[in-house]
Amino acid sequence: MINNTKQKPLSRVDPQVFGLLKKELERQRRGLEMIPSESYVSPAVLQAMGSIFTDKYSEGYPGKRYYGGQTNTDKLESLAIKRAKKIFGVSHVNVQPYSGSPANLAVYFALLEPGDKFMGLDLRQGGHLTHGWKVNFSSKFYRSIPYGVGKDGYIDFDQLRQQAKKERPKLIWAGATAYPREYDYKSFAEIAQEVGAFFAADIAHVIGLIIAGVHASPVGHADVITSTTHKTLRGPRAGIILCDGQPSNPLKPAPKISKEYLPTLIDRAIFPGLQGGPHEHTIAGIAVALKEAQTKDFAKSNQMIVKTAKIIAQKLLEEGFNLVSGGTDNHLILMDATNKGLSGQEAENRLEKVGISVNKNAVPGDPRPPYSPSGIRLGTPCLVIRGMAEKEAKIIGGVISDVLNNHKNPAILAKNKRIMRDLCAKFPLYPGLKID
Ligand SMILES: Cc1ncc(COP(=O)(O)O)c(C=O)c1O
Repeated sequence: MINNTKQKPLSRVDPQVFGLLKKELERQRRGLEMIPSESYVSPAVLQAMGSIFTDKYSEGYPGKRYYGGQTNTDKLESLAIKRAKKIFGVSHVNVQPYSGSPANLAVYFALLEPGDKFMGLDLRQGGHLTHGWKVNFSSKFYRSIPYGVGKDGYIDFDQLRQQAKKERPKLIWAGATAYPREYDYKSFAEIAQEVGAFFAADIAHVIGLIIAGVHASPVGHADVITSTTHKTLRGPRAGIILCDGQPSNPLKPAPKISKEYLPTLIDRAIFPGLQGGPHEHTIAGIAVALKEAQTKDFAKSNQMIVKTAKIIAQKLLEEGFNLVSGGTDNHLILMDATNKGLSGQEAENRLEKVGISVNKNAVPGDPRPPYSPSGIRLGTPCLVIRGMAEKEAKIIGGVISDVLNNHKNPAILAKNKRIMRDLCAKFPLYPGLKID
C-alpha cells in the first residue's frame, strides 16, 4: 500500500521523473525565459498546488456539491473567489476553468448558440486560437469573423466598427496573445453596445499589469472577463472568469441568455456544461497567487515588467529591428526578423544558443505560414521576477541585437553566451528550492 508506507522521496520512487524534474530546474536556472506567456510561481504557490487537495473530488460549487467531505474545499474555493472579487471589484467569479482555453470555451457555451457569429482578433494579427482561428473549436462550432490591426499595428477601431455593423455578431472579444499595446476597452464596449453584442475581454496576458494598476481594467466595460492564471498573475496553469449580474444558481434550469443572468450562465457552462470535478489543488494555488498579487512587491514588479520591455524595445529599434507597432506598452515585444534576413524560427534558434528562450510568432500581414512565421515574441515577466531591472534590460537588449545582427560570428556568440550565463548566475532562480 503505497500511501501507507513512510514518505519516500521522488528520487527513490521514480528516478526517471525525478531526473527530468532536476534537469528542467537546471535548464530554467541556467537560461533566461523570455516567452511572454511564461512566469515563475512562488514556492508558496508550488506548495499549494502540489498538495493533498489533489485527492478531493468536489463537483459543483461551494455549498452546492455533489460529493461529501467538502468542509475545507468549500472554504478554499470561497477564499479564492473572495480574493478575486476584491481585487477586481466584480460580484461574481468562477475559479474552476482548467485553463484559459476552457474558460473561453465556457463563454461561447454560455452566450452563443452553435453557428452564431462572433468577432475576435485574427490569430495572424496577434489573436489567440480560441478567438476564432480556423482549426479551433471556436471556428468549427461558431462563425468566426476575424478583425485585424491597422498598418500601424494598433487595433483599427473604425474598421472593427464597420465590420461589426455589417456582420452583427453576438459576441466581440478583446485580448490577444501577441499584441504589444494597451487595450482600449471602452471603445470595444461602445461598438459591442452599438450592435447589441456581448463584450468579452480576455486578459490572460495582461492580468498582472491590470491588478498592479499599470494598465486600465476592463471591469465596467466588459460583460465577461476571462484570464489564465499562469501568465502575469504568476499562479498555477488554470483559468478564471469574472462577471457581474444576479447571484448565480447553477442548479436551476438554464435562464435566458441575458446580461442579468451572466453568473448562472457562466457557472452552468463550466459545470455541468464542460467540466466535471474542479482541480482544488490548482484552486489552492490560485488563492495563494491572488493573495500575493495584492502586495506592493507585485505592483512594483509589474511596473518594472513594462519598463524593462520598453528599454529592450528601444535598444532593438536603435539597432534597426522592425518591431510591430514601433514598440510596446506592455510586457511583450513582437519583432519581424525578416529585415535582418532571419525567419522567426532562425531568430529563436540563434537566441537559444546564448540561453535566451523566445518563441517564433506570426506578425500582422505575415506572408509566411504559421508554422514558419516571420517574427518572434519576447517578454520580460520572467527576468523581472528573477530580480532583474533597468540595468539588466539594457544588457539583454544588447545581447539580443548583437546575436541577431552577428549570428554568423562564433566569437560574438561565445561572448554573449558568457554574458547571459553570468547574468543568470547573478539572479538565481528558486534559490532555496530543494527537490529530493
Ligand atoms: C489571450 C489568451 N487567451 C487564452 C489563452 C489560453 O490559455 P491556455 O493555454 O491556458 O489554454 C492564451 C494562451 O496563450 C492566451 O494568450
